[in-house]
Amino acid sequence: MPAASKIVQIDPKKFISKAVSAIPRSGIRDFFDIVQSMKDVISLGVGEPDFVTPWHIREAAIYALERGRTGYTSNLGLLSLREAIAASVKKHFKAAYDPAGEILIAVGVSEAMDLAFRALINPGDEVIYHEPCYVSYAPGIALAGGVPVAVSCRPENAFSVTAAAIEQAVTPKSKALVLNFPTNPTGGTMERGELEKIAALARRHNLAVITDEIYSELTFEGEHVSIAALPGMKERTVFLHGFSKAYAMTGFRVGYACGPAAIIDAMMRIHQYSMLCASIISQEAALEAIQHGEADTLEMREQYRARRNYIVSAFNEMGLPCHKPRGSFYAFPCIQSTGLSSKDFARQLLEAEKVACVPGSAFGPTGEGYLRCCFATALDRIEIAAERMARFVQRVRS
Ligand SMILES: Cc1ncc(COP(=O)(O)O)c(C=O)c1O
Repeated sequence: MPAASKIVQIDPKKFISKAVSAIPRSGIRDFFDIVQSMKDVISLGVGEPDFVTPWHIREAAIYALERGRTGYTSNLGLLSLREAIAASVKKHFKAAYDPAGEILIAVGVSEAMDLAFRALINPGDEVIYHEPCYVSYAPGIALAGGVPVAVSCRPENAFSVTAAAIEQAVTPKSKALVLNFPTNPTGGTMERGELEKIAALARRHNLAVITDEIYSELTFEGEHVSIAALPGMKERTVFLHGFSKAYAMTGFRVGYACGPAAIIDAMMRIHQYSMLCASIISQEAALEAIQHGEADTLEMREQYRARRNYIVSAFNEMGLPCHKPRGSFYAFPCIQSTGLSSKDFARQLLEAEKVACVPGSAFGPTGEGYLRCCFATALDRIEIAAERMARFVQRVRS
């Protein structure tokens, strides 16, 4: 048996950069390290579909291997995939991009987002984002040398962001605006009228817009509108999308960016020296997904819808007010009436009832008093989780 290696202590101040030392560890990951070490936990935690990638998509990956498709691709990604993305984005989002120079395939939306930040931000540039939000935005902006500026979304408006609130955050240093609809963690969506006002604001203040539309296929009500498709916006917008959520392909790590050629080229220059390209096997699978996977996405969405309806009613019945998310696969119940902080609630719930949820505070200060519960889990598991949570809430209150 190999001898266990000794943990070496180092002086972080000497070796770790100041920029990295200043960013916190993700609240989600910390929590899930604990969950991983426990048995029989029902997880409403990590934002990941419980479905396995549809078989025809997995088969495309296997077939790519069988054909010996094991090398690098172009830095921009496979042209065939870029062409299919262009067709899909035109059909579903009404935005036209040239596969030759306006689309870049990356290692997930995570990498595409990082590339966009690094390509656009100069030191000290302010980047506005709405909060509570996905955990990567503020650290990503800061690591690129920018200053993250949060716009808090009010629970009274089901956490939707308004142009007026964004306007208040604009200063002469504002460079870009990050949008995410449907929103992780609140499930908020955006009406066309308000999005038009936000677009007008971006044009007026000459802001770049980075729009993360990874949950767009998981819109349950209303029309999903992309800001990239609004008049005068293509020239200032980086549209980000990927395969992780819509096709249950988190492990394949494929996402993409569409935008003006000069921005995509700048992003590509970082990508070519850091990542080189996304895995060809994953790109082949993504091609199958985007060309033949729409029915799978719709089928999964209907299952998420049924789970959403169930979990939202269950929260309201147990006295945790919860708005109905119009998109994504997250419910965001308010736990303030229990008197516990969101971290304490999540920790005590896990210990007492073995249900894992993410404290709302992991998504920004406005998330305090809330819990993010991912309903990308089988309905029978959600039913048991809801029973356990109701028991926990009753005990805390008594
Ligand atoms: C809003 C949002 N953007 C981006 C990502 C990262 O997606 P990917 O798996 O494509 O890197 C996530 C993952 O949870 C997310 O919720």
